[in-house]
Amino acid sequence: MKSNRNLSRAEGRRLGNAALIAFMLGSLLLLSVIRARFSPIGKTGDAIKAEEERQGLVSKDSVKMETADEAAVSTAEDEEGEAHPKTAGTSSGGGGVSTSTPVVTVDATDRVIKPVCYETSRRSDTCEAAGDVRVQGRSQTINVGLLDHEWRVKPYCRKHDAFAQSHVKEWTLRPLSSDGAAPPPQCTVNSSATAFVMSTGGFTGNLFHDYTDVLIPAFITAHRFAGEVQFLVSSFKSWWTNRYLQIFQQLSKHEVIDIDNDDEVRCFRNVVVGPTFHKELGIDASKAPPGSSMVDFRAMLRGAFGLERATAEPSGDRWDIRRRPRLLIIARRSSRAFLNERAMADMAMSLGFDVRVGEPDITSDVSKFARLVNSADVMVGVHGAGLTNMVFLPAGAVLIQVVPYGGLEWLARSTFQEPSADMQIHYMEYMIQLDETTLSEQYPKDHPVLRDPNSIHKQGWNALKTVYLDKQNVRPHLGRLKITFLEALKLLPHGQQQANNN
Ligand SMILES: *[C@@H]1O[C@H](CO)[C@@H](O)[C@H](O)[C@H]1NC(C)=O
Repeated sequence: MKSNRNLSRAEGRRLGNAALIAFMLGSLLLLSVIRARFSPIGKTGDAIKAEEERQGLVSKDSVKMETADEAAVSTAEDEEGEAHPKTAGTSSGGGGVSTSTPVVTVDATDRVIKPVCYETSRRSDTCEAAGDVRVQGRSQTINVGLLDHEWRVKPYCRKHDAFAQSHVKEWTLRPLSSDGAAPPPQCTVNSSATAFVMSTGGFTGNLFHDYTDVLIPAFITAHRFAGEVQFLVSSFKSWWTNRYLQIFQQLSKHEVIDIDNDDEVRCFRNVVVGPTFHKELGIDASKAPPGSSMVDFRAMLRGAFGLERATAEPSGDRWDIRRRPRLLIIARRSSRAFLNERAMADMAMSLGFDVRVGEPDITSDVSKFARLVNSADVMVGVHGAGLTNMVFLPAGAVLIQVVPYGGLEWLARSTFQEPSADMQIHYMEYMIQLDETTLSEQYPKDHPVLRDPNSIHKQGWNALKTVYLDKQNVRPHLGRLKITFLEALKLLPHGQQQANNN
């Protein structure tokens, strides 16, 4: 978090501003170093190209989100059916399950038995095996006692995204047979936990992807083991794992293993390879194991980060500042920034809000920022990865997504609107109009960018992203925004109390 200012304290502001600017410059420098070193951001151009080659044009059902960390999201494959077995497979270009023989088996009662590896959604393949399981991390090999043939899988929930999958190592499940040339590997470590192989390659490092591609799918898979599961993490990045260590510790009583650099032969009785995807930033409770809904995921997060508020209730203490509803403005700096943030904050304060401003990024301390978000009753921000912090809001809170100019309703819908219901969060939208966008200053009135956003969408994701996401800042009309804030207030228990008092 680069700034978290208590706006109700005017004194010391001037001095604070200088310090803040210096701090922001420092943070920016640090951020660019971190980006250059660790994240897949440098490859963004490639990511987008790969996406475009795959999809041709941007259509309403191929959604991407370009965020501070610049990685592509695609929700094109959202129509998940029931888990269905893969019936054939060639060597996996996009990184799906591959096998040389048909895999559907039928038992004595003619029921179709789940094969070892199967497609758990259009985005994810999962393999499960039990018995004699021996994991050799260095070669991404899992030897399994009773296996009739070899399976290959990439344990990351973007199976049709060639770019993401190019950063994910392929794992092999192979029969543990004694007839081969090499003797079976001898166990050096025995564990009674279930082994869970997953990857933090792909698009990790972008908040939205961290949750959508990895953390929520890992929860769907691992929560049912009640801690008796060991995470074997492929394409391990220590900065990433450390960032979310508290989450891993909630899900597992065992050490997280950097499995690609592991020289042990780790033996288990059960293994699961690859997390299960359900939907964008969400869980389909009807498909998830019992007790693994989005409500449970959020409760787990509260446990992980010590978040106090399960629901957006005002504090009972009449002297407590928390009697006032808190509004958190999620700030952005490089694009899609609020140009009148201060005025927005002043207006919100005049409505009785306790106002905070926070700017989440890759350098933010997760639990610190999570606590800030959890303390809020209303969170408002322009479309972008930062809004993923909604996972920390208490139930009954309000998310206001400010949608930049350019016909981006569909993007707003699939990224943050649709996930909000399962999180028990009230969703509101504030659409940026022509008189509120800096695009109006950049283009003549009759330019297609302003007149016909659809014509820009038709030029593909790159064009859309450059024009409407990268080069747009916004200045919400305070009168109009005030109406939205007042509506948000009405949705809160605080607002209802106030109404009763009046
Ligand atoms: C692991 O378990 C096997 C089978 O019980 C045993 O033979 C082996 O010695 C054990 N290895 C270790 C390192 O404990």
